Amino acid sequence: MAVTPPAQRNWWKEPIERVELIWTVLAFLWGIAMFATMILWHVVGKQNLANEAYRISPDVFMTRTEAFAKKYKVREEGKTGVPVVRPPAGADVYMLGRLWEWWPVLELEKGQSYRLHLSSVDWQHGFSLQPINVNIQVHPGYEHILTITPDQSGQYGIVCNEFCGIGHHQMTGKIHVVERKPQ
Ligand code: CUA
Repeated sequence: MAVTPPAQRNWWKEPIERVELIWTVLAFLWGIAMFATMILWHVVGKQNLANEAYRISPDVFMTRTEAFAKKYKVREEGKTGVPVVRPPAGADVYMLGRLWEWWPVLELEKGQSYRLHLSSVDWQHGFSLQPINVNIQVHPGYEHILTITPDQSGQYGIVCNEFCGIGHHQMTGKIHVVERKPQ
């Protein structure tokens, strides 16, 4: 019984039971196999995002995002007044999370690659890209850079999936993916 002290006080010096040893080795090997799978899956599974993360101050990130939006703005989204920004292929693309929106709206070209910079300028937010289910936790002070190549045209929605206050359920964003314009 666990409530009584062991009869042999120096139990750790006793020889290990054969069955216990086998289980310990099996559990260890299984752990190693699972660990290797994480690395393998990053390479062959197309499941993990190839991302980089850096420290950045919210002010600097806001300034960069605003400059980016101003430079490549092509129109406004509906009647919302939110700029739709169409950067050239291969460009650094900025999107910020704040109470309570993902800003600005992006318009990207199918088949082209972009470096998407994500950060928050106030609290923790979640970047959940629908319907393809890419999820990133976004904090102020850090920027994630995702190298993305949209492979399907259409409209993608972003919802915030980290609780961020009273407007959390209304915090959304949008990415349009368009076919290359005919020359
Ligand atoms: Cu931002 Cu929830």
